[in-house]
Amino acid sequence: MKRFVEKVFQYKRVFGYTAAGVVAVVGILVYKKQNVVYSSWTTGYDPSVKWDYNWDRREPSSLVKPLKESATDEEKLKHEEDLKKVPTASRHLILIRHGQYHDKEKLDIDRKLTVLGREQAAFTGARLADLNYPWTKLISSTMTRARETADIIHKSLPDLPREESDLLREGAPIPPEPPIGHWRPEKHQFYSEGSRIESAFRHYFHRANSDQVNDSYEIMVCHANVIRYFTCRALQFPPEGWLRISLNHASITWITIRPNGRVGIKTLGESGFMPVDKVSVL
Ligand SMILES: *[C@@H]1O[C@H](CO)[C@@H](O)[C@H](O)[C@H]1NC(C)=O
Repeated sequence: MKRFVEKVFQYKRVFGYTAAGVVAVVGILVYKKQNVVYSSWTTGYDPSVKWDYNWDRREPSSLVKPLKESATDEEKLKHEEDLKKVPTASRHLILIRHGQYHDKEKLDIDRKLTVLGREQAAFTGARLADLNYPWTKLISSTMTRARETADIIHKSLPDLPREESDLLREGAPIPPEPPIGHWRPEKHQFYSEGSRIESAFRHYFHRANSDQVNDSYEIMVCHANVIRYFTCRALQFPPEGWLRISLNHASITWITIRPNGRVGIKTLGESGFMPVDKVSVL
């Protein structure tokens, strides 16, 4: 009898511990679940898209020829040395939209800046001069409104070397998602201009070469579609979302490409340095 009672107590004790254990485990799981930080649009733990470090095909491993199996010690040493030659400088690309212009004109040569557009360009030039970074060069699209904007900015930064490029001209980068009703370029425009704007991206957007000593600050005067497409591509956002972004005239979009291939944006379409009555988008 005594032994039976002992057994019951023993059983109760074990059962009790098991129940306590189950409660404890469930408790811990509930607590943990409450404390997991989910992305708001997904219940997954992993990023929906991973950063592609080799987006510019300049990861050190992809710049150096792979070693042959028959490589000599000397070749192996050189291979190791080559892999160590990594960039150290950042490249800053300062993308400026042109000022307001006469957009009802047919020919590019007649699509000049308005009086307001010239004022906007002067504000942006003054802003860049005030910021006083060691600007590297001033690049502009060859379209009249971009050239004129660059001319005015250059008055504030007269020592800056200049360049022009047809690659930066305005165009239709890729069909926007969602599509919009009132802007329907011909399909062939996306086909030809889209590839040209993508070439411009590949030409200008890449990490520094390993022999670049100082950070560089290149000012690029171009166009809203081009800048919006560049921004999406540089940040590895879906490029078809470019038309969701709006950029004011002569605004500053500042993108930084770090030596390890990471990209950041400092400002997007900044125009807060202009008086409110000088700000326009159309
Ligand atoms: C790098 O910056 C320093 C300091 O501003 C300057 O003295 C030097 O000439 C620059 N080097 C190159 C290669 O531009």
